[in-house]
Amino acid sequence: DWNMPDYISEAVEKIRAQVGTDDVILGLSGGVDSSVAAALIHRAIGDQLTCVFVDHGLLRLDEGKMVMDMFAKNLGVKVIRVDAEEQFMGHLAGVTDPEQKRKIIGREFVEVFQVESGKLVNAKWLAQGTIYPDVIESAGKGKKGQTIKSHHNVGGLPDTMKLKLLEPLRELFKDEVRKLGVALGLPHDMVYRHPFPGPGLGVRILGEVKKDYADLLRRADAIFIEELRNTPYEPVVVPGFDQDSVPTNWYEATSQAFAVFLPVKSVGVMGDGRTYEYVVALRAVQTQDFMTAHWAHLPHSLLGKVSNRIINEVRGINRVVYDISGKPPATIEWE
Ligand code: XMP
Repeated sequence: DWNMPDYISEAVEKIRAQVGTDDVILGLSGGVDSSVAAALIHRAIGDQLTCVFVDHGLLRLDEGKMVMDMFAKNLGVKVIRVDAEEQFMGHLAGVTDPEQKRKIIGREFVEVFQVESGKLVNAKWLAQGTIYPDVIESAGKGKKGQTIKSHHNVGGLPDTMKLKLLEPLRELFKDEVRKLGVALGLPHDMVYRHPFPGPGLGVRILGEVKKDYADLLRRADAIFIEELRNTPYEPVVVPGFDQDSVPTNWYEATSQAFAVFLPVKSVGVMGDGRTYEYVVALRAVQTQDFMTAHWAHLPHSLLGKVSNRIINEVRGINRVVYDISGKPPATIEWE
């Protein structure tokens, strides 16, 4: 149990002592860890920090704008936004294999990041939002046997970059990182967001990734998330249970929730007409560690409302299904 203002001033002093007058680069993904690292380092060294935010075109609705508003506008952090959608879509064209897609996205990310950071000739440090569980996990690599999915954490260190590593969150657990983020002034909703995979919507569009599919998926996903946030969760209050962690809505009551784009068409009817359009699957899970997970028993009224809204508001989708598979045997993501 530590005192937050003391922790921040200690961490700030440590970063200042470490980097001196050098410049620092950080790959900002919009995720919790890199965001908190950016806010902390910016508190310590201000304009000596430059963030590179690669928009690969596989982000959620308005995510790029949100990242820029939060960091560049509100916090005054230097952020270079790279619009690399076309480059990513180009390399993903015709590729259907999930592992292949992950590899391409990871490779292109490193490529784009390297080009951008290569322009910052004075940078001596690469900052990363590595947290304690990541340190443990990479120490255990190789003992786990077969990889089920290659988890590319977008932002991995390119070996050829001759930069020193700055990892100010290395000793923190996720809940501590979140508390630190709030104390540094990041919005609560951002800091408590569900995890989002590095390859983004690339693993939520089955088979070939296309911009049109991503656009439909983004809108369907935003409706689902909005309704989860707006639907109250009636908690079972256990005496003595930490009140901080009692969920107030269905977004908080789930560990991860999202829409998946299925590139198959089915027949529907709208007005006097027949439709022949795509399918969206909704996925919502509850889990402690993401290694095993249960599908969330969302209220039928909530599912019904989300389905109606998606079909009415997203032209191109005429059917919505709910995924009731546990992990194992299914994984959380569909690819
Ligand atoms: P699965 O689908 O394997 O996912 O049950 C477990 C957790 O890991 C996330 N995930 C990823 N995260 N890069 C990431 O950074 C990836 O390639 C990746 N694949 C899955 C997934 O969202 C879930 O939280």
